[in-house]
Amino acid sequence: MDLAEKTVVVTGAGRGFGRAFALSAGRLGARLCLSARTLAAAQKVADEVAADSGARVDAFACDLADPATVRGFAQGVAARADRVDVLINNGARYLHGPDLWDADDEAITDTVASGATGTLLTVKHFLPLLRASEGADVVNLVSSAAEARNHRSQAHPAFYAAKAAQAGFADVLSHRLRPEGIRVISLYPPDFTDGDPLDATWDQAARTADDPLTARSVLDCVLFAIGQPRDCFIRSFHFEQV
Ligand SMILES: NC(=O)c1ccc[n+]([C@@H]2O[C@H](COP(=O)([O-])OP(=O)(O)OC[C@H]3O[C@@H](n4cnc5c(N)ncnc54)[C@H](OP(=O)(O)O)[C@@H]3O)[C@@H](O)[C@H]2O)c1
Repeated sequence: MDLAEKTVVVTGAGRGFGRAFALSAGRLGARLCLSARTLAAAQKVADEVAADSGARVDAFACDLADPATVRGFAQGVAARADRVDVLINNGARYLHGPDLWDADDEAITDTVASGATGTLLTVKHFLPLLRASEGADVVNLVSSAAEARNHRSQAHPAFYAAKAAQAGFADVLSHRLRPEGIRVISLYPPDFTDGDPLDATWDQAARTADDPLTARSVLDCVLFAIGQPRDCFIRSFHFEQV
């Protein structure tokens, strides 16, 4: 897969899947715009990506729970790039605890805001740049928690609510943007293990049916979907759980 000439935006890129995707996209030739809640966190990964692949990469601060910083992120990218080809909606706060009282009101509000309205506002404010691309892809890292009656995770109900809202948004967005040729691709993974492309184990192939899903496989699904010809609109990836 070749991402040369593609401008790729990743939210929540300071660690975990967002960082892994940034490193991998850099190796595939992408020009990257990375955001994290703090500029320092985004810059740290941007420096790693540049050192690893030589990719052109800019760092931005964006707290997805804060609409002003989402707008600022989009404005910052617009000042440096004339279009966005791939938007990875990755950032979302995880909240643990099965009981509603396991989290305070601020954590609940922040969880719903980062995952739900954060994704919505990011797409809204990047839409002019996405529309400027000859073939844009919006990728949403949702969760199996958004699947109907999938209650296996011990995540807090606020996380379920955030991911369900994100899924509802993705569903209608895919339909609404289809006539413009913009693809909306959503993934509903169960828990997956962290992975680090800078680590030798990233490319280790020996995995069995008893092993947990890995970030590497989730990432490969994204690359597969965005690598398809423009007449192929993959809406979603769902995974059978153990
Ligand atoms: N890992 C899994 O098992 C799994 C399973 C299903 C779905 N997912 C989804 O896949 C995505 C990536 O997963 P992950 O494992 O990398 O998640 P993670 O380890 O929980 O990291 C979440 C990322 O989102 C960022 N974030 C949290 N709140 C934010 C906010 N208000 N504004 C901006 N960024 C914020 C975090 O930044 P900070 O470093 O600043 O906290 C971090 O980069 C998430 O959307 C997650 O819900 C993950």
